[in-house]
Amino acid sequence: MRLFLDTANIDDIRRGAAMGLVDGVTTNPTLVAKEGVEYRDRVLEICEAVNGPISAECISTTADALVEEARRIASWHPNVIVKVALTEQGLQAIRRLSAEGITINTTLVFSANQALLAAKAGAAYVSPFVGRLDDAGEDGMQVVRESVQIFETYHLPTQVLAASIRSARSVTQAALAGSHVATVPPNIFFQMIQHPLTDVGIERFLADAAKYTPV
Ligand code: E4P
Repeated sequence: MRLFLDTANIDDIRRGAAMGLVDGVTTNPTLVAKEGVEYRDRVLEICEAVNGPISAECISTTADALVEEARRIASWHPNVIVKVALTEQGLQAIRRLSAEGITINTTLVFSANQALLAAKAGAAYVSPFVGRLDDAGEDGMQVVRESVQIFETYHLPTQVLAASIRSARSVTQAALAGSHVATVPPNIFFQMIQHPLTDVGIERFLADAAKYTPV
């Protein structure tokens, strides 16, 4: 499963990229607004830091405006892929943009039916928002599981990108569900490295290694 970082914070992105394990980055208007920077400038900085798909989101609401905005965003850098929200107008735009060869990540996906429609429209990725569904008392990972199964059954090339991830355990569950990608907030990404028994083990080995002459 590929791992994307779900952030617009350039320091966290550079730290993750230094490990060589970040396959891409997802941003959204909320994440960029938190950073107090211009959207295009930050996306270009991210493209310099990570060589993989970098999602930048459209904010238009009509199909024509979405098509224009997505073309502009896609022209920023060859690695930029465009996020379009799952609406009726959004699906029209996704169909037109995909036909032009623009890579689309369909965002704000909350059901397998929405994922199916986005895939039929030609989206390269669908992003089920697992955490927000869980917050609403539903089983977010079920949408990931069902979408993966539908795409496999019908040999649809669209990839499932598990989004709105709130815990390290959800990353494991997304991998078990067969999600092609999970986009993970930096705190959870770095938490995935940690285990208390690893720390205890290192401490013990270092203490024992001090009892002999180092090689
Ligand atoms: C990613 O593409 C989404 O924008 C993001 O995962 C949303 O996460 P949130 O529900 O924590 O805002």
